[in-house]
Amino acid sequence: MDVLKGKTAIVTGASSGIGYETARLFASEGANVVVAARRQSELDKLVAAIERGGGKAVALAGNVRDEAYAKALVELAEGRYGGLDIAFNNAGTNGEMGPSSGISLDGWREAMDVNLTGAFLGAKYQIPALQRRGGGSLIFTSTFVGYTVGMPGTAAYAASKAGVIGLMMTLAAELGPQGIRVNAILPGGTATTMAEAWVDTPEKLAVVEGLHALKRRAMPDEIARSVLYLASDASSFTTGSAMLVDGGVSINRT
Ligand SMILES: NC(=O)c1ccc[n+]([C@@H]2O[C@H](COP(=O)([O-])OP(=O)(O)OC[C@H]3O[C@@H](n4cnc5c(N)ncnc54)[C@H](OP(=O)(O)O)[C@@H]3O)[C@@H](O)[C@H]2O)c1
Repeated sequence: MDVLKGKTAIVTGASSGIGYETARLFASEGANVVVAARRQSELDKLVAAIERGGGKAVALAGNVRDEAYAKALVELAEGRYGGLDIAFNNAGTNGEMGPSSGISLDGWREAMDVNLTGAFLGAKYQIPALQRRGGGSLIFTSTFVGYTVGMPGTAAYAASKAGVIGLMMTLAAELGPQGIRVNAILPGGTATTMAEAWVDTPEKLAVVEGLHALKRRAMPDEIARSVLYLASDASSFTTGSAMLVDGGVSINRT
């Protein structure tokens, strides 16, 4: 299938996990992909894997906290591939976790800077490029944590990711008249590196799996398939949506 044929996408947080699988899927569906994260070596491996599969990708390493990086990613997409149609602002960090009264200001700011300000800076430069193209799809990664579920020890993470939903809703209202759709994906527990901070023993893994109606966590490619839906014309009337892809963790009470 080639549902993104002729499209160009930026994917942040592409060096591992959900972003990595999404970049691969976008490329396999025909998109040119600009992949972003701090670790150049991991991005290079991803580009090589995409090219081996006959796809097109280019990497630029940097930190999503930096405004110049957000601008450079869009310049690369337009310079290399002639425009931008899709952006998946997915890079994220747990920030400092633990009882809220013990969270340092630096730990709080880290979560805000990467998860919320990073998403804003991405969008700030992606929007004019999408406007130049006459439309497109902007996607953010949020989470059920701080949206449908309050979870002890996650104040900075939850607040930053709930902020992403507010940002998404505002942008959806602002940009809808210009044919730019804006949505957030809210994964449930997903087996990635980031999740190791939450699930570091078999006992904790069993508890986390049990919280989900499906009694398991997602694999990152399952989340990627839902991101593809938001990126593609299959979701042409979906905007302003906080889309739970959470294995039922939000509704489960058993
Ligand atoms: N796993 C879950 O259970 C879960 C659930 C709900 C939501 N999420 C969200 O899903 C997103 C992806 O996380 P993941 O689970 O796939 O974990 P992951 O495999 O650890 O991926 C995180 C990605 O973000 C990048 N990143 C982190 N800080 C960055 C920074 N300052 N600048 C640029 N890139 C940065 C990392 O790359 P570098 O280290 O190379 O920079 C990596 O590519 C995150 O926003 C996370 O909050 C995850």
